[in-house]
Amino acid sequence: MSALNPGFLQALKEALALYPTPFYAYDWTRVREGVERLKRAFPKARLFYALKANPRLGLLRRLRALGLGAEAVSLGEVLRAYRAGFLPEEVLWNGPVKTEEALKALQASPPLVVLDSEGDLLRVARLLPGAKVLLRVNPDLPVATHPHLATGRGESQFGVLPEEVPRLLALARERGLRVLGLHLHLGSKLEDPRDFLEGYRVLEGLFPEVGPVEVLDLGGGFGLGLDLKALREAMEALARLYGAEVFLEPGRYLVAQAGVLVARVVGWKRTRRNYLLLEAGMTTLLRPALYGAFHPVLPLYEGEGEEVYDLAGPACEAGDVLARGVALPPPKEGDALAFLEAGAYGASMALSYLDTPRPLELLWTGEGFEVLRRREPLEALWEGEA
Ligand code: LLP
Repeated sequence: MSALNPGFLQALKEALALYPTPFYAYDWTRVREGVERLKRAFPKARLFYALKANPRLGLLRRLRALGLGAEAVSLGEVLRAYRAGFLPEEVLWNGPVKTEEALKALQASPPLVVLDSEGDLLRVARLLPGAKVLLRVNPDLPVATHPHLATGRGESQFGVLPEEVPRLLALARERGLRVLGLHLHLGSKLEDPRDFLEGYRVLEGLFPEVGPVEVLDLGGGFGLGLDLKALREAMEALARLYGAEVFLEPGRYLVAQAGVLVARVVGWKRTRRNYLLLEAGMTTLLRPALYGAFHPVLPLYEGEGEEVYDLAGPACEAGDVLARGVALPPPKEGDALAFLEAGAYGASMALSYLDTPRPLELLWTGEGFEVLRRREPLEALWEGEA
């Protein structure tokens, strides 16, 4: 279990008296440590934070101040990055779908664009003439992670297969795009360095046909337990081969362990299983329902003894269980639990399904809490409807 910083834990308990639950809270000191760890591991790489992991403006501004760029995957995310102060050349725009509407909206200030297919290339060349681009390579590798997160498999919808790369690079140049280099993202939550090394080998194999480039973007996907040291040498050798600068796109690695979801116990009941009923469930933290993800649970109360519980949320779905078989001291009504490792893809994936307001988000600076985003007001849920 990833222990929380003691100061943060204490602050969380105090926050219970000050803020409405459920809420997400993030320990900025922990995020900063993650950035330093990555910079130490890959001192020559330029980091573009994958803002899908946690896109709050207050977090983005701080990450930019540490010298990071931003990786975005939609028009909304690109504009959010600009709003947080990132300059167009500090933003990378990824994704298989870039609509005409989105491309036109960015004509005045185009970010760096990652081309994902031939059609994408042609649309970008037409609507963002002269844009700086990378070409995403689908390495066709069976990376070891949840199938939903394995974007580098040949059957996934991302990037172009290695054999297509030389022709599409030539086409991009012919259409007037400014080709900076290649992009590779293998998947998310990767714990085995060999997956990365194999990915780098695919790019190495392309060098004779591609030749030197300015940039190799090697994506994100770093699992929380991944041994970064095992990647450095191969990464640097690849960069030397191409004469390129390395870009990386970390998301989870920087924010997951910094964040918790705090939710109170509303009650309990027994069916064939022993349930605690919580005020928050899958609409607030979707990962357990969507990927079977496990988030360790830390009680924020004192109690005697232990019982084993399943932790259910308020949704009318049997899958709305945040964790099963958790041993906890029996709580009182209103006692609070913290779900750990929830700083990445927690709040950013929260849904308004079942008219659930998106929760409050707090940032602990080391001194106190800052509100990153207030709880969504109920009226916002029906705003815009006739
Ligand atoms: N770059 C690209 C092109 C990506 O698609 C992603 C993640 C990243 C970077 C950042 O990956 P990270 O370093 O965070 O692993 N919702 C899922 C994760 C989806 C990741 C999608 N792409 C989850 O909750 O686990």
